[in-house]
Amino acid sequence: MHHNPLFIRDLSFTYPDGTHALKAIALSIAANERVALVGANGSGKSTLLLHLNGLLMPQTGEVIVGELPVRPENLRQVRNFVGVVFQNPDDQLFMPTVKEDVCFGPLNQGLRGEALACRVQMAMAAVGLDWEYYAPRNTGNLSGGEKKRVAIAGVLAMQPQILVLDEPTAQLDPRARRQLLQLLQSLPLTQIIATHDLDLAVELCPRTIVLSRGRVVFDGATEQVMNEPAFLEQHALESPLCYSRPYCRIEDRPLQATPPELLSYDLER
Ligand SMILES: Nc1ncnc2c1ncn2[C@@H]1O[C@H](COP(=O)(O)OP(=O)(O)OP(=O)(O)O)[C@@H](O)[C@H]1O
Ligand SMILES: [Mg+2]
Repeated sequence: MHHNPLFIRDLSFTYPDGTHALKAIALSIAANERVALVGANGSGKSTLLLHLNGLLMPQTGEVIVGELPVRPENLRQVRNFVGVVFQNPDDQLFMPTVKEDVCFGPLNQGLRGEALACRVQMAMAAVGLDWEYYAPRNTGNLSGGEKKRVAIAGVLAMQPQILVLDEPTAQLDPRARRQLLQLLQSLPLTQIIATHDLDLAVELCPRTIVLSRGRVVFDGATEQVMNEPAFLEQHALESPLCYSRPYCRIEDRPLQATPPELLSYDLER
């Protein structure tokens, strides 16, 4: 008997063209855990995430969210439980305006009137989008980063128990990235974040899972795996900046900044 909100046993998946994208995946993720899913391009991250809300169905093994196996007959409940933000926001946004898009999920959950307005406005505020300005905008005309934020707002508006994000920072500007990290840090939710941004993993996720060619090759403390440059390289990953350049870490900053007069002195020479 398992008690975790996400439990995966022996999950394998082969695409119709014969690509073995997932091989015997076994995972268990506890309530309120924040887990980074990392791996090189094509390692199977997105394929795994698409199984968490039944966009792909297990071919072998099983995926259980809450107490429910991910099967066609449970899809509605599964999708209320697990919110997935896709890698490409164009795959997610499908309504003509931002308002219609962010309202779509909660409307389907039966929300109306004040409760609906309150839910979607909170979700938009959480991703730093001004409701008045963005609500009437055409989703197709937004920039990549704006689309990503609207996609995240649409999922937050459904208040899922498990928040799954596929490359959430890929198109964000530095400030939006920082705001998103703060938001994710503040949300008391189980979170699974597929990312190439290993600095995000270090900052946000005590636990990291490394996928390589469809297999889990590491599942443990983020701190531990990021300190293994040879292992990371073996699986086509690069050490995060904060490890490869230790002076990027706040605790390693010089105790005293160089006085400005010294800097100008050096420049003049
Ligand atoms: N629709 C598809 N048909 C056939 N093969 C696919 C399909 N989608 C993905 N694949 C293959 O499955 C493997 C895993 O792909 P996936 O998109 O899950 O990787 P990823 O880890 O998310 O990569 P990225 O970092 O580039 O997003 C890759 O070899 C990919 O080419
Ligand atoms: Mg992917």
